[in-house]
Amino acid sequence: MNVVILAAGKGKRMYSDLPKVLHPLAGKALLAHVIDTSRQLGAARICVVYGHGGEQVRETLDAPDLSWARQEPQLGTGHAVLQAMPALAGTTASTLVLYGDVPLTRAATLQRLIDAAGGDALGLLTAHLDNPHGYGRIVRVDGQVVRIVEEKDADDAERAIHEINTGILVAPTAALARWLPTLGNRNAQGEYYLTDIVALAVAEGMPVVTAHPDASWETEGVNSKVQLAQLERVFQRNLAEQLLEQGVTLADPSRIDVRGELVCGRDVSIDVNCVFEGRVVLGDGVRIKANCVLEDAVVGAGSIVGPFARLRPGTELGREVHIGNFVEVKNSSIADRSKANHLAYVGDATIGSRVNVGAGTITCNYDGANKFRTVIEDDVFIGSDTQLVAPVTVGRGATLGAGTTLTRDAPPDQLTVSRARQMSIPGWKRPVKKKKD
Ligand code: UD1
Ligand code: MG
Repeated sequence: MNVVILAAGKGKRMYSDLPKVLHPLAGKALLAHVIDTSRQLGAARICVVYGHGGEQVRETLDAPDLSWARQEPQLGTGHAVLQAMPALAGTTASTLVLYGDVPLTRAATLQRLIDAAGGDALGLLTAHLDNPHGYGRIVRVDGQVVRIVEEKDADDAERAIHEINTGILVAPTAALARWLPTLGNRNAQGEYYLTDIVALAVAEGMPVVTAHPDASWETEGVNSKVQLAQLERVFQRNLAEQLLEQGVTLADPSRIDVRGELVCGRDVSIDVNCVFEGRVVLGDGVRIKANCVLEDAVVGAGSIVGPFARLRPGTELGREVHIGNFVEVKNSSIADRSKANHLAYVGDATIGSRVNVGAGTITCNYDGANKFRTVIEDDVFIGSDTQLVAPVTVGRGATLGAGTTLTRDAPPDQLTVSRARQMSIPGWKRPVKKKKD
């Protein structure tokens, strides 16, 4: 099976300089969702038809398993698929047509369509809508599909049809190669309609079969930021439901955002307003408190994160680690049972087990040009408001006094403190304001 993805439309109603199909849904370009679905189906060849702003689309998403066909100017969906035919030359398999701005079609639905068409029929994905306005209508005679008529070309009787064309179809590739060059554009929009192939199939005696999506959002497209936001919510709701079904506790399934892959162990609980980006792995019994942002991070079993914590890429927490409020961790590993509970920045650090990172601790990892590592060995106690100027190592069991600015390694098991000695001045008088005369 081959896939042709139509992505040449301009997307004017996004009011954006970014090509429509590059707008992200759940952190991933719309078109990338469709490409990934095509891969899930095991497509032999995937050809993307691009046009407006297309070079940027191609540069952003190019991959060895994709081919690209430029459509310029854009003369309709039939003309668009025709541009992909050279990329499909010599294949006998069927070709599935998808839209680059319809991101949430499930692979299982498409597989049903492919199976229904079975290699030598034309398969249409259709749906019954209460309000079919704007869509092409499926015209049947005695139950058999005979053609598709576009809204703008339809008469009143045809407009009353509630079965619509989602635009997604599958056809034998050789038949497409035969039909597409013969399409005309004498219609209300002056376009070469892909939908006209239905009547051509019927004329040849080729069976036309239909399959249907399980939910309407599967075939909804994105033409505006309103529709993008709606499909984002659909995606997030579906994902939250999957997490609940796996046994994850969500304080509110409508207040979690996953923009990537979230892998959870048993008895994980996630409070409201947490954002997960990239690949995040939460071990058994992990608790994520409210308002946390985690990106490409691994959290070991029994750890507690938040509220208001930020785990940035390369964070690896061991078991029963506590990361508290206003703590940022980046590219650092923190081993079992260590704690950084309040107001800290831990960047480019390797922290051992049972370490206590006091409030206000900062690893000074960056000199404006280069990054350096901080190493904190097991059982270290770091007093509050300490700066560790990397590269620097704190030896096992060491204690750093509060307020220390550590610029050299701290030996194990000793107290290291860098701080002006405290003094008190007897008889000192606080200055007073001069009286104006
Ligand atoms: C199309 C269908 C209609 C269906 C509807 C579903 C045709 C003639 N009509 O109508 O039956 O109900 O989709 O949404 O096919 N595109 C190109 N090049 C072009 C034109 C379009 O790549 O020259 C792409 C667009 O970027 C889009 C898709 O094809 O992803 C559909 O185009 P659009 O203009 O939205 O089609 P409709 O007129 O809505
Ligand atoms: Mg159109």
